[in-house]
Amino acid sequence: MIPSNLLNITTQIDCLEGMSYLPDESIDLCLSDPPYNIGLKYKDYDDKLTEKEYWLWMRNIFIQVHRVLKDKYHLTFTCAQKQIWPFRDMLEDIGFKFRHLGVWHNPKRKAGSWPGIWPYSWEAVMDFTKGKKYRKLNNGNSVGYMDVWVEEECKGYDHPAKRPIEMWCDLVKVCSFPGDTVLDIFMGSGSTAEAVLRNGDRDYIGFDIDEYYVGMSNDRHAAIKKEIDNVDI
Ligand SMILES: C[S@@+](CC[C@H](N)C(=O)[O-])C[C@H]1O[C@@H](n2cnc3c(N)ncnc32)[C@H](O)[C@@H]1O
Repeated sequence: MIPSNLLNITTQIDCLEGMSYLPDESIDLCLSDPPYNIGLKYKDYDDKLTEKEYWLWMRNIFIQVHRVLKDKYHLTFTCAQKQIWPFRDMLEDIGFKFRHLGVWHNPKRKAGSWPGIWPYSWEAVMDFTKGKKYRKLNNGNSVGYMDVWVEEECKGYDHPAKRPIEMWCDLVKVCSFPGDTVLDIFMGSGSTAEAVLRNGDRDYIGFDIDEYYVGMSNDRHAAIKKEIDNVDI
């Protein structure tokens, strides 16, 4: 069984250690946002590994994600454009199946922001499933959930890589079902916590190594829960 002290909270822990406490096939959706290894300024984490170190680290992490995820269920995450191909090859080698490539376009990023190079206006939303068969998405009667999101990153949290919250809520909605447990191994400011709370009827497990972001995510959880419940908790 999943230890109950890991549920609906972000725990300060290395994600590999965190996953060691999770039983095989106990997770219904892994939704995450790994560091892009582009030198972003996090509080603690140094986002500048060598390519070799980075991909070895990712491989070890996603072997564990494969272990804890239920067969046929979804692994969905954002990554940089240049990471699309190495992630697909690595994850298919581990035993995932590539399902879909979506796009997050941030309209704040304009041509000319980086003179001389292509504007970096979109990031990839990758979807895989464990094994060759797949659990159908939870988008039955809806035409509203597409695979291109045009949205600015979430405002108001001191974190360099926040996800847009409407997109993140859509991903929780379509890639999981009521009763599910959603795992985010790189919780950061708490976007997955908020998206799970806003969708309702789901649990989440969150890991981050950085004390400051863990506090931020848990404060965010408390604020969103209070807003939803409209009561003090
Ligand atoms: C790209 S950010 C995630 C941002 C998040 N999606 C959000 O919306 O705020 C990656 C996060 O991974 C965390 N991190 C780095 N190494 C880690 C590790 N070994 N275990 C757990 N978290 C880690 C960093 O502290 C950072 O907050």
